[in-house]
Amino acid sequence: MRKKVTVVGAGNVGANCALRIADKELADVVLLDIADGIPQGKGLDILQSGPVQGYDVNITGTTDYADTAGSDIVVITAGIARKPGMSRDDLLAINNEVVKAAAENAIKYSPNAILILVTNPLDVMCWAAWKATGLPKNRVIGMAGVLDTARFKTFLGEALNVSVENISALVLGGHGDTMVPITRLTNVSGIPLSELLPQEQIDAIVTRTQNGGAEIVKYLKTGSAYYAPSAASVEMVESILKDKKKVLPCAALLEGEYGINGIFFGVPVKLGAGGIEKIYEVALSDTEKAAMAKSAASVQEMVDVLKAKA
Ligand code: LAC
Repeated sequence: MRKKVTVVGAGNVGANCALRIADKELADVVLLDIADGIPQGKGLDILQSGPVQGYDVNITGTTDYADTAGSDIVVITAGIARKPGMSRDDLLAINNEVVKAAAENAIKYSPNAILILVTNPLDVMCWAAWKATGLPKNRVIGMAGVLDTARFKTFLGEALNVSVENISALVLGGHGDTMVPITRLTNVSGIPLSELLPQEQIDAIVTRTQNGGAEIVKYLKTGSAYYAPSAASVEMVESILKDKKKVLPCAALLEGEYGINGIFFGVPVKLGAGGIEKIYEVALSDTEKAAMAKSAASVQEMVDVLKAKA
C-alpha cells in the first residue's frame, strides 16, 4: 500500500514539500490549508505534473482534516512567515495557535502519524505540538538542522570550490542566530576544515550560516526561504518512509542530553520508521558547550512564555 503524507499549509514551503514528495514518488500527498481554493488548486496543478515527471502518486488539496485520515507523516508548515525586520521569535504568539490547532487536528485523524514541524520559531513550535498532542517524543521532530547544515555546506563548497556532496558538517542548537555550527567536526572527505580554510574565513561562513534565513528574507522582502526548507523537510520524510536510518541534525525533545532538559533542540538523530530512533550525544569542547547553553537559553525563554500563557 502507498504511504500517505499530509502537508499542512499550502504556502511556498508546503507546496514545495508536496511537489518534492511527488517528484520522488514517496507517497500520496494531501495538501491542507484553511484558505479554501489554494490547496485544491495547487494540489491539482502538482497532480497534473505527474504525466510529465513520471509519477503516479495522488495529490489532493483540501481544507478538511477528515481527508488527512491515516497519514503516516504530517508535515506542519502552516503559520505566518517572517517579514523583513521580523525575527523568528516575533512569530511566536501567532504561530503557536496555528501549530497547536494543526497538530491536534492532524493527530485526531491520524493517531499513529509522525509529526515533522517546520513552522517558526521552530524549536518552540515543536514543543507546542508535542504538548498539544501528548505524542511520544520519537514522533515529534523539527526541521532546522538539515536546512542550516545545507546552508553551511553550500557556503563551504563555494569557498573551497569542491562538491557539496563531499562536505560533512554538523550544525547543532536552536534554529536561530544562536545556532552552533561545529566547525571542529566539519570535514571534506575526511580532511578537517581547519586544514583547508583560515580561521577568519571559517568564522565568516559560520556567521553567514547563522543568518542564512534572514539573508533570504532580506532579498525576498515578502516572505522567507522555501526551496531549501522544503528539500530539507523531504529528506527527513524520505528517511522515515524508507526506514533509511539517516543520521541528521533535527530538533528533538531533550531529557538530559547535552545537559538540556524539557525543550526541543537541534541534535544529531537517527531517523527511521520509528521516527527518532536514537539521539546522538557528541562530546563537545567547552566553547561549544557554552554556545549550546546560550542557544538553549534562548529557546527556553520562549517556551517559558508559552508555559506562562497556558
Ligand atoms: C529559514 C526560515 C525558514 O531559515 O527559518 O529560512
